[in-house]
Amino acid sequence: MKISKLALVSSLSAASFLSAQFKQTPLPYAYNALEGSIDAQTMEIHYTKHAAGYVANLNKAIAGTPMEKESLTAILAHVSKESPTVRNNAGGHYNHELFWTVLTPEKNTQPSEKLAKAITETFGSLEALKEKMSKAGADRFGSGWAWLVVTSDKKLAVTSTANQDNPLMDLAEVKGTPILGIDVWEHAYYLKYQNKRADYLTAFWNVANWNEVSKRYEMATKGKFDDWPALKTFHEVMSQTFHPSEEGNLQPIKTRVGEMVTKAKALQSSSIPPEFDKPAVKNSLANLVEATKNLERQIKKKTSDTEITKTLSNVHDTFHAVIGLCTADDKH
Ligand SMILES: [Fe+2]
Repeated sequence: MKISKLALVSSLSAASFLSAQFKQTPLPYAYNALEGSIDAQTMEIHYTKHAAGYVANLNKAIAGTPMEKESLTAILAHVSKESPTVRNNAGGHYNHELFWTVLTPEKNTQPSEKLAKAITETFGSLEALKEKMSKAGADRFGSGWAWLVVTSDKKLAVTSTANQDNPLMDLAEVKGTPILGIDVWEHAYYLKYQNKRADYLTAFWNVANWNEVSKRYEMATKGKFDDWPALKTFHEVMSQTFHPSEEGNLQPIKTRVGEMVTKAKALQSSSIPPEFDKPAVKNSLANLVEATKNLERQIKKKTSDTEITKTLSNVHDTFHAVIGLCTADDKH
């Protein structure tokens, strides 16, 4: 009897978990907060009906599949292999969650200094960027989105996608991390603007949230190891000693091996950013410390250059094993 109760409880909790994997984030302002540019009724229907529909249909479509355990961005990265239902609703959910955040009732928000500089360098001016995005939105035939993205080489680009596709999808023509998206589906503007999509696009800029876009730009351009200075410090001494050794110059490593051991130990005891904090990474860091100590012993004993070169190469491999472990789970 006890067992069957337990089974019932666990199957119920599993079912409730499965049926609500993705959720809408509460709208960070009232439906009428953007009046003048986007009317309350449009906002309410858009959020409570259209966007709510995408997330509900997404959860339904992925129920019982391995996608239940994946992040939304991970699903988007292999969406070309999934059904149109998954593609439309995973895109729909991601796009709208982003859209609400890049709108604000706050007046006159501005791009951060860093983003403003990148905009000027890429497009000439903020006005030129707005024009380019508005054009991308206006030219999108039927339904879709206009995007400002950060590409894999950390550059800004304007693009547009059809329906609920987005630049994170493996099938996107222009790939990148979206930092600003404008919904140009009729459901985003028709009640107030009817067929005048261009007027809606002009009004959009009055309620664009440049604080949020700047924050997203900062995240998208951040180096993977920016939060782990001890790793960068070790990498510096590694590359400044290893690369000369490849050309037969062992002087840098012979002079700096003590520093390398100290930095390897500092790396091992540093605070590891949560996304890399795994037993395998810790094991590799311990191996790295041992490898550098071994190298130091050899150099002190005046072991042959051939042996020193071999051991330094082993330190280098061990360091790259750490980096490999940190980047291996990117897709998850
Ligand atoms: Fe929409």
